[in-house]
Amino acid sequence: MIFVLQVRGSPALIVTMLVAPVLLLLLVPFPPSSGAQLPNQGQAKDLPIATNGQPFPWDRMRLPKTISPLHYDLTIHPNLTTLDFTGVARIELDVHEDTSIIILHAKQMQISNVLLLAPEGIRPLHVLEYPHFHQLALLSDSVLTKGRKYEVQLEFAANLSDSYHGFYKSSYRTSSGEVRVMASTQFEATFARAAFPCFDEPAFKANFTIRIIREPRHIAISNMPKVKTVELPGGLLEDHFDTTIKMSTYLVAYIVSDFLSVSKTTQHGVKISVYAVPEKINQTAYALDAAVKLLDFYDNYYDIPYQLPKHDLAAIPDFQAGAMENWGLSTYRETGLLFDPDRSSASDKLGITKVIAHELAHQWFGNLVTMEWWNDLWLKEGFAKFMEYISLDISYPELHVDDFFLGKCFDAMEVDSLSSSHPVSTPVENPMQIQEMFDDVSYDKGACILNMLRDFLTPEAFEIGIIQYLKRYSYQNTVSSHLWESLTNICSSDDLDEGRLKHREFCAKRNLPSGLDVRAIMDTWTLQEGFPLVTVEVRGREVRLSQERYLKTDDPSLTEGFLWQIPLTYMTSTSNTIQRFLLKTKTDILYLPEEVDWVKFNVDMSGYYMVHYAGEGWNSIIRLLQHNHTALSGNDRANLIHNVFQLVSIGKVRLDTALELSLYLSRETEIMAVTQGFGELVPLYKLMEKRDMAALENQMKGYIVDLFRGLIDRQEWTDSGSVSERVLRSYLLLFACVRNYAPCVTKATQLFNKWKDSDGTLSLPVDITMAVFVIGARTPEGWDFLFEKYRHSMQMSVKSRMKTAMTVTSLQDKLTWCVHLASYGEVMKTQDLPGVVVSVSKNPHGYKLAWDFLRANWHTLIKKFDLGSSTISHMVTQVTNQYSTREMLDEVRSFFGSLTEETGSEMRCIQQTYETIEDNIRWMDTNLPLLQAWLNKRSHKVAHEDL
Ligand code: BES
Ligand code: ZN
Repeated sequence: MIFVLQVRGSPALIVTMLVAPVLLLLLVPFPPSSGAQLPNQGQAKDLPIATNGQPFPWDRMRLPKTISPLHYDLTIHPNLTTLDFTGVARIELDVHEDTSIIILHAKQMQISNVLLLAPEGIRPLHVLEYPHFHQLALLSDSVLTKGRKYEVQLEFAANLSDSYHGFYKSSYRTSSGEVRVMASTQFEATFARAAFPCFDEPAFKANFTIRIIREPRHIAISNMPKVKTVELPGGLLEDHFDTTIKMSTYLVAYIVSDFLSVSKTTQHGVKISVYAVPEKINQTAYALDAAVKLLDFYDNYYDIPYQLPKHDLAAIPDFQAGAMENWGLSTYRETGLLFDPDRSSASDKLGITKVIAHELAHQWFGNLVTMEWWNDLWLKEGFAKFMEYISLDISYPELHVDDFFLGKCFDAMEVDSLSSSHPVSTPVENPMQIQEMFDDVSYDKGACILNMLRDFLTPEAFEIGIIQYLKRYSYQNTVSSHLWESLTNICSSDDLDEGRLKHREFCAKRNLPSGLDVRAIMDTWTLQEGFPLVTVEVRGREVRLSQERYLKTDDPSLTEGFLWQIPLTYMTSTSNTIQRFLLKTKTDILYLPEEVDWVKFNVDMSGYYMVHYAGEGWNSIIRLLQHNHTALSGNDRANLIHNVFQLVSIGKVRLDTALELSLYLSRETEIMAVTQGFGELVPLYKLMEKRDMAALENQMKGYIVDLFRGLIDRQEWTDSGSVSERVLRSYLLLFACVRNYAPCVTKATQLFNKWKDSDGTLSLPVDITMAVFVIGARTPEGWDFLFEKYRHSMQMSVKSRMKTAMTVTSLQDKLTWCVHLASYGEVMKTQDLPGVVVSVSKNPHGYKLAWDFLRANWHTLIKKFDLGSSTISHMVTQVTNQYSTREMLDEVRSFFGSLTEETGSEMRCIQQTYETIEDNIRWMDTNLPLLQAWLNKRSHKVAHEDL
């Protein structure tokens, strides 16, 4: 793809990546956005006026419920040479109330020849367009009567989109340099309307019969299997696909490409195919097997067969998100699907398996049972995220996915601890707000509260409940309370009679509390934002409990009025059986059977809350970790590290206490505890890197290296071990090399030179390549060599490691070049630009570049990646979250403060950014002297011990 650079005072210049002067990059922004963005309100401020000046007869963003679609007949003809498409949509309507107006969606397309096919004959309809709400009004001169059969037919034409949504263009280069063009769809959440006129809301489910016109050199795939191909005059072919079952518009998909595919059949008889560009088809075997295995797993687990005869998985060369669950045709980023057994890493394997598990989970959660509206997005995204772990735990025990789940809860808590957070179920109206729902709250918090509920109800009861939910609401739309009802009184439900034997046996055996009000408990987690901090104080046998909202703010009044029903779990020094207690009130007291040395709440962090051990609590835990850390599980240790450092941020615990606790990490080996140790300690020096305080920064870096030196030294430079061990190895060696730990740098340098001398043919152990590339990319020659290999590699996971290594270098001109390359999208795809910008922003030599780039190109970025998308939010928060000075806060405020509603001023990520920087400033003001003193004391002590 080529970006057009608008040079002030001169005509538009098309500059390809190779000839573009690098210096222009920051001086010349991309052309400003011309696309009008939507305002905030659900209702137009003034009476809406259609494009032709006539009043538009509907003034809301949501469509009226007077008419709904039953069936769509779609014929789509993309032209991959002229990069546009035409189509015909014939929609069968269900008229619920007499009306002469049909309101539906269409966005940025020309509409023509609109007809009403009524029982009394065919008549033209008058069309009004209201682009502001992406709506069309079709006006009939006679009334459409309730209960009678009508159809509308519309012809339409538009350009293939240059973004990553709607019906969009994608392209790739073959190894011989030829550029091939294809077209693919991404409709979630509100982009089906940009591909064909439709009732584009999730509750308007209908059947779709799709036909695609293509050239013989291409193939077309869609949600359903192809039933026949018809030759058209002029040599074009028309593929006819079978009619879908009832589904929402956002799940419709079709692709026209030159892809190849591989296929297998599941035990349940579903044909699975994986599609990719021809030169990467040999990297599809892993995904094919995983999809077969996981679809069979879900078929069994949900006790509902997969609804379609086939499922295709397609790796799309240009893709904004990670993957999309279109019914019968899920789509993926190439890195999310393609696996090379010799070159892909353990974490690639884990990632690919999880993405497939996620999209296949949606075939039930989301596709079969769909949220009524986007406010309850979590009902599918929280579930799919959660099911990634449930399905892998059972189908791929060797991946030990359990080692990673609590990372999701930490991620969720990070955004949920700010006052800009929002409840899991949140009212949303316009497309930007809908996009913003695809965040860590819907996904990660959603998954964590489901996990907490499963732990509380027991896995068996939970499974029965969710199966009842899926069966009860198949082909329908739901709100959160439908789920809670299905999880209440599971053993007394009539549905159970038809359920499986194992569930009936479970209910016969177990005396489940029948009066349990699941809804009352769960409403406290989905209808209010944030999460509780439970303070625990042990006095003899008495355990005093209290709850309050954990919030990173100066203003204590903001924490008032929150109350959760918290399923507490705990164990003590005298009993490692898990004890349970549902804390419903602000304070309560528990009595232990005997006095104990320590208590640990939130066992294995199966709950979504933080715990503060008041009084002597933290000290007894620190003693335990120092002397016998394996008395607690790795997850418990990770949880304690997280909690203690997070409590420093809100002034509940002194920094010294948290640092004293961190000392035990020199004996830690479990992945989650180690990475959480890094996760809390590394940001401290990352903040300093963006300020002028090299001495303390280096002291802190030295402390962390010292802490993990033993573990780093014990790492083999091979690919041996379990997935967790391998993921940990990559992580540790990368850290050690980036931190200039001499043994690591020496070894990586040797290996890089050997690899370079072999012209890249030497096969390095996969786990260590990241560390080796990062060291190689430190010199201009090494960087250039890596870049040459990047250009020509067809292995997506290798390319992705090379790309990261290239952005970690301290060579400023190379960093600029990277951002430049990704902007032009030739050698490095524009889909990777956000990742490159974020990676450069974490680099002490690149953070200014990243911030300047973000500001200078804001309008183009939001046009390309869409306002409110997680791509944009991620870039905004990640580029700025390591700033900790008032000057930087002012600069950030001044830029985002200058935006208008149309250019994103209302985005939640801006508030998150302000709050995060304010929190960093507070942290530094309070804790820098303490950190300095503690590190001094420690180095003094260590020097003393060495004597
Ligand atoms: N439904 C989403 C894809 C999506 C994301 C559509 C944002 C519209 C806006 C899909 O199921 C999904 O959640 N994809 C994830 C990957 C997954 C493994 C968590 C993604 O794209 O990040
Ligand atoms: Zn999803």
